[in-house]
Amino acid sequence: MADSGSRGGVLVTGAAGGIGAASVRALADRGYRVFAAVRSEGVASRALAELPGVRVLTMDVTDPVGVTAAADLVAAETGQAGLRAVVNNAGVIVQGPLELQSADELRRQFEVNTLGPIYVTQAFLPLLRAGQGRIVNVTAPSARVPVPFMASLSGSKAALDAVSAALRLELVAWRIPVVLVEPGSTETEIFDKAGAASKQSLVLVAPTRLALYREQLAAVDRAAAKLRQRPVGPVARAIVSAVSARRPRRRYLVGDARVISVVLRLPAGLRERMLAGMLGLRGTRPKG
Ligand SMILES: NC(=O)c1ccc[n+]([C@@H]2O[C@H](COP(=O)([O-])OP(=O)(O)OC[C@H]3O[C@@H](n4cnc5c(N)ncnc54)[C@H](OP(=O)(O)O)[C@@H]3O)[C@@H](O)[C@H]2O)c1
Repeated sequence: MADSGSRGGVLVTGAAGGIGAASVRALADRGYRVFAAVRSEGVASRALAELPGVRVLTMDVTDPVGVTAAADLVAAETGQAGLRAVVNNAGVIVQGPLELQSADELRRQFEVNTLGPIYVTQAFLPLLRAGQGRIVNVTAPSARVPVPFMASLSGSKAALDAVSAALRLELVAWRIPVVLVEPGSTETEIFDKAGAASKQSLVLVAPTRLALYREQLAAVDRAAAKLRQRPVGPVARAIVSAVSARRPRRRYLVGDARVISVVLRLPAGLRERMLAGMLGLRGTRPKG
């Protein structure tokens, strides 16, 4: 383990669990001073606060005023040194038939996954300029190969991809790299949280409308249950590489995200049939 903070400061959003918490630990182990931003304080954040070199702060990425206040707090602690990196990791999955998703759920999807990283980037760029730092955005394979019944998630991550590509060029003048980390299916609580939120929101949908999708949703559930999720370690290591590489890549692919580049080379029709087959959607008949 290196001296705490000897390699500069890094902000990680969505740090309470999953990929965020694993990245905080991996970065602190390598000697970074880590600002671990959590949506709300709890057992997980208290455990992080006990790690050497880790400073926990609360920040809801969808609240631009709160994000600015968090940036002021970090600026006061880092002084002239600024930050080495901002890791936009906070994210949620809003799942289910797009036709039935509520306006609140759609807004939450885009606010957390797309607008959140933009608010954080805007507020923390002065610290990144001071520290000759970089932006690391955590995206998903669905940004490049959109997934049915995860349409809003796919859209939110595709938008983040596009925003990152444009921002990369805007920040060339300051040599601030904008890096994407794209994990494949990873063992975290994000899927259980998405399932619970979807169940809660579908309660409000008329049973006749919900029945239209019953067969497809059952097929997707069966396919999801078979999906192999990999541990968070390799994703955290990719985030460390994205933060520490002298010349970072534009995109770090982890786990089964690597096959996406191959899938993208297939003709669109074949790709869609493959995806439908993988999700068990071929042969399902609409009910209405
Ligand atoms: N797991 C995968 O298979 C996978 C694959 C590709 C990409 N990703 C991406 O990886 C990132 C991390 O996800 P994960 O799998 O580690 O899931 P996770 O364990 O659920 O972590 C997501 C974190 O984001 C936080 N968050 C949610 N809304 C927030 C808000 N408004 N403000 C601040 N923080 C907020 C959550 O806090 P609360 O728990 O307090 O809500 C949680 O700590 C996400 O961007 C996700 O899209 C994950």
